[in-house]
Amino acid sequence: MDQSALDATPRTPTSAAADSGVTLHVCVTCRAGEEGQQDQAAPRAGRRLHDALAEAQRHDGAPHFRIAEVECLSNCDRGCSAALTGPGRWSYIYGDLSEASVDDLLLGASRYAATEDGLVPWRERPTILRRGVIARIPPAPKPV
Ligand code: FES
Repeated sequence: MDQSALDATPRTPTSAAADSGVTLHVCVTCRAGEEGQQDQAAPRAGRRLHDALAEAQRHDGAPHFRIAEVECLSNCDRGCSAALTGPGRWSYIYGDLSEASVDDLLLGASRYAATEDGLVPWRERPTILRRGVIARIPPAPKPV
């Protein structure tokens, strides 16, 4: 695990979006098994995934969710990692992602943003999100 990143504060979202509050958090510190790579200055796998997602979303026109950088989701052994969150919605953490996951991640996040509770029907979830789901977390209770 990249312990140095655990206390980092969340960064400003990379992209603006409609005000659904739905956010795709992408770990930019994931190495995804590239620890031994020769060029230490090369962008990490998580950074490349984040940047590819942000670029693809820019071409999309009307994003229904925002993309935000995060440093470590405590899922380092199955990085690249990402999480989907939104007000009143279940949250999900995903692993085993890569730049090849960009289209499926954007599709899955759009479908998630279209729900009220974050529960996208199983068959409507892209395969990479069905196979790569690590955990889901219920929405926070409303204040009494
Ligand atoms: S570095 Fe820990 S989840 Fe990405």
